[in-house]
This record gives sequence, structure tokens and C-alpha cells, in this order.
Amino acid sequence: MPPASLAGKPGGAHINNFRKSLLAWYDKNRRAMPWRALPGRRPDPYHVWLSEVMLQQTVVTAVISYFFKFVEKWPTVHDLAAAPVDNVMAAWAGLGYYARARNLHKCAKEISARDGVFPDSIEELKKLPGIGDYTSAAITAIAFDKPATVIDGNVERVVARYFNITEPLPAAKKTIRQYADFLSSGRGDRPGDFAQAMMDLGATVCIPQSPRCGMCPLQQNCAGKNIAETLPRRVPRIEKPLRRGHIYWIMDGKGKILLQKRPERGLLGGMNGFPTSEWVEKGRPGHPDFIKRLIKNKKSQKNRVVAHSFTHFDLILQGWIVETASIQCGEEGFFWRRSDDLDRTAFPTVFKKFARLMID
Ligand code: ADE
Repeated sequence: MPPASLAGKPGGAHINNFRKSLLAWYDKNRRAMPWRALPGRRPDPYHVWLSEVMLQQTVVTAVISYFFKFVEKWPTVHDLAAAPVDNVMAAWAGLGYYARARNLHKCAKEISARDGVFPDSIEELKKLPGIGDYTSAAITAIAFDKPATVIDGNVERVVARYFNITEPLPAAKKTIRQYADFLSSGRGDRPGDFAQAMMDLGATVCIPQSPRCGMCPLQQNCAGKNIAETLPRRVPRIEKPLRRGHIYWIMDGKGKILLQKRPERGLLGGMNGFPTSEWVEKGRPGHPDFIKRLIKNKKSQKNRVVAHSFTHFDLILQGWIVETASIQCGEEGFFWRRSDDLDRTAFPTVFKKFARLMID
């Protein structure tokens, strides 16, 4: 039975047609991805889990090299579980949203303790660290070929257009889920391929701008075809706030630069970086006490500025060059590193940008 909101909408035969056309298109046009199995084979659940966690907020092209790096270093979930967490964080550097890496490692330990067997239901998967609605559904469908509704941004777009859902996001999410559930749940035929076919169609044909409706397998019955480019509608985004702070290039005079392992909690938690002040939205950022002392002694000068955009705010950091050998290592996670070794140090992108600015 379709959900109430589908009363008067296309029924079963229509949906079967949708599924058949989409799967036939997928058989010819599926994208090759390193975590996907060959047609007709089941993929390794470890690969599916790892790729889906990486893909949570990151595009496919950015994920591929990280996926290869991880499976080369840690070919099984047991290897990943046995790795020191700092090595996992370092391998993740540059992918962003670092809580994902910490949860990935925690989850690997839990799976390893269960003999490496991943649960095959949404309910059980959601009990694991870092696995929410999207990832649990993706693993259930793709790794175990069990019916589950997998909705990412691509799927949202395909569904909103096909059913001509004109209500704007984010409010439309509920309606989109009802339609998507109707398309996927409880229908036994190739759930893993169906989920990935929806994502591939959204990524390659039903694209945000200039959708390629002429090559779409669903064009005949697509209710939103004439206004596809305007769907899904969105409530206009509020502008991101701007935060400001200072960042320090502290040299010991003998070729070493001061770095800091950031506190575990908070943004970029547990990652290596350059020392910074607090990042503030209002007023002018102050310097930390140890820097204030150095500035008073005129051992510092202003230098380059680094800008970076995070999901919820933009950041501008004023760079400073400071020369001192007086900072104690260990305190607040400080440690010295040879400047020649900085390009081999795993940094989140904002710090990588600063290192490049200072070295070039
Ligand atoms: N985006 C996230 N997971 C994906 C998958 N398995 N296939 C295609 N696109 C994706």
C-alpha cells in the first residue's frame, strides 16, 4: 500500500516500471568504484562500510584515494581495529569531519570483537559508533542486498523531480522519504543495485544544473521534467558567520616549527595543527598568554593570512611569525617538528594551507 500522501499518485505497475527501467539503465551505465563488487557478486561489507562512512559528507572523487590508502594499510576490519587511533586520524587528514575517523576506529574495534561480522539490519547497525540513518540503510542494501531506503542528496533530487515535489527542503525531506520508501522498501528485486542506481542516476544524469533528461531512463513518466532544474526547491540559506583568529608559525631558530596536537574534543579534535588563538565571531581575537609574552618582547611579526570555509562558518586566520626556543614540549600538546618534515605531516586542510603559504 502506498503511504497516504501518495493517494491518487501512480500505483504498483507504474513503480515496477520505474524499477525495471532504472535497473536496466544501471546494468549498462553503473559507475566503476573500488568498493563495488563486479556485477552479480556481493561486495565485502568492510569495504561498503568504510566507503559509506567516507562518503557521508564527501564527494566520490575525493574519497577514492583515501579508500585505497585505508584498505592497503588495513586490509581487514581486524587490522583497522588493531591500529593506533593516531595512525587512523593521520590517514584521515584532509577528508574533514574528524569525528568520523574516531568513530570509524571505535566501530572497527566493536566489529573485530564480533569476529569481523557486520550486522545486516538497520536496527543493529545503528547501535554502532558513527552509523546513522543513511549509513545503516546503505550497508543493509548494498552489502547484504536487503531492502532499505537509502537517501542522499542525489536520491533526494531524483525523487523530488520524478514526483514533482515542489515543497522546499528541508521541510520536504519527510515527503521525499515517503516516496522513496514506496519505491524501495519491501520490493525484493536487487535492493543493493537499486540503491546505487538511484545515486548514480542523480550523480550523472539527474544532475543539479542542466539535467540530462534526454538520456534519462525515467523521462517518460517524470512529473517534474519541465521544471527539473528548479527542483528540489530550497529555503534560501542564511549566510555563514565569519570567525577570526590568529595562527602562529613559531620557529626555534634551528629549523624546527612548533606544532600542537589539538584537544580531543571540538572541531579538528585530536588532529595536528599549528598553534592558534581562539576563533571568535564577535570582537577581536586575543592572543594566548604565551604569545602575548613573545609579542611584548617584539619577537613576532605579522605575516600571511589564511582563509578556510567550514560547513557552518568561514574562518580567517591572521598568520604570525614568532622566533623562540622557550616553549616547553608536551604542554598543551605542543611538539617541535623539522620544517623539512612538514609536507609529510598529516594536517587538516586549513593547516595544510597555512604550511604551504609559509613554505612557498
Ligand atoms: N554515494 C554514497 N555512496 C554511494 C554509492 N555506494 N554509490 C554511488 N554514490 C554513492
